[in-house]
Amino acid sequence: MEYSFSDRVQALKPSAIREIFKYAADPEVVSLSAGNPSPEAFPIEEIKEISSRLLEENPIGVLQYSVTEGYPQLRETLKEYMKSHHNVGKDFDDILITTGAQQIMDLATKSLVNEGDVVITEAPSFIGSLNTFRSYNAKLVGVKIDDDGMNMEELEKALQTHKNARFIYTIPNFQNPSGITMSLEKRKKMYELAKKYNVLILEDNPYGDLRYSGEYIPCIKSFDDEGIVLYAGSMSKVISPGIRVAYVIAPKPIFQKMVVCKQGNDVHTNIWSQMVCNELMTKYDFDAHLEKLRNLYRKKAQFMMDLMDKYLVPMGITYAKITGGLFTMCTLPDYVDMQEFCKDAIKNKVCVVPGNAFLTDESEECHTFRVNFSTPTDEQLEKGIKLLAKTAENYIK
Ligand SMILES: Cc1ncc(COP(=O)(O)O)c(C=O)c1O
Repeated sequence: MEYSFSDRVQALKPSAIREIFKYAADPEVVSLSAGNPSPEAFPIEEIKEISSRLLEENPIGVLQYSVTEGYPQLRETLKEYMKSHHNVGKDFDDILITTGAQQIMDLATKSLVNEGDVVITEAPSFIGSLNTFRSYNAKLVGVKIDDDGMNMEELEKALQTHKNARFIYTIPNFQNPSGITMSLEKRKKMYELAKKYNVLILEDNPYGDLRYSGEYIPCIKSFDDEGIVLYAGSMSKVISPGIRVAYVIAPKPIFQKMVVCKQGNDVHTNIWSQMVCNELMTKYDFDAHLEKLRNLYRKKAQFMMDLMDKYLVPMGITYAKITGGLFTMCTLPDYVDMQEFCKDAIKNKVCVVPGNAFLTDESEECHTFRVNFSTPTDEQLEKGIKLLAKTAENYIK
């Protein structure tokens, strides 16, 4: 049988990152390529306790169909949390619980983007979102990032050139993959530009609560007086990715379209998971849980930075200082072929993600690779960084 596929998915291919994960599965390979929370980060005992209590006290509520918008108590809890912690959410907004933030990318694109419309993203950006935009045949326009976030001159040029831009996709805090955080000044500028050129902003903030140093910077959504920002939050990095609970705060007309799209997508997000999140946030000390995560990751981040300072920096490999989130990006000297370096790293039994996997145009010249510090143990981190230094010996002049 010869299968023919829709125009929408015809050109889609498995991403380069998937190839990398094949190697990462080899137990002999030290993987610095994942983006998973640390196994020590999960509130396992609390989730056990809540789950058995819920099944005891409200088995039908846990097991029955529920409403598409999300578990009403969790929506209220999150509304209150986002207002009190981040000053996010106005009267013109509403909140939808989704199956991971990945689904927000899908629902937003489905609701707002026609084939050929432009989505402006940071370059590099999160591969999962890029692939979702691609799956709707959106044209991706990447804008380079500086040390303090997206380059605003380039953004304005892109907005002037692409009149059919529908939204700017940004990860302002501890960006995946670069680890970079956008300055307050640039957040305000991005908001002004979006207003001026009549485009929306999709602000994706799964790492915002994982800051290890430096000052808190307000979300772009907190300045939103016109209803031009969709805010995506996720429980994946602060509770568990396996429970697949995230949320979008968006102007009501967009919220309503996303609800209709979600009905045809998965009806509603797993109600048991939603209830567990609500209990964790209301009956336990959620702020203390976040503080525990920050302490855990701050230590791991520092441990990896110390190793990189000792073994990689002297070889001319630089990295962006980690102030939060789960990643940083290393930069090889210009004369090193990054693809060859990453392949050789795998031969030496350490796996990192080549930077071009995160670009809107993967064929662009690129000298970076992403490393993660949350998933490996300290022993694995030390081994992995030393193996990267060993790999570099063949390349660095
Ligand atoms: C920037 C960014 N957005 C969204 C997601 C998807 O998260 P979720 O597990 O909530 O679907 C990730 C996951 O790594 C991410 O890094």
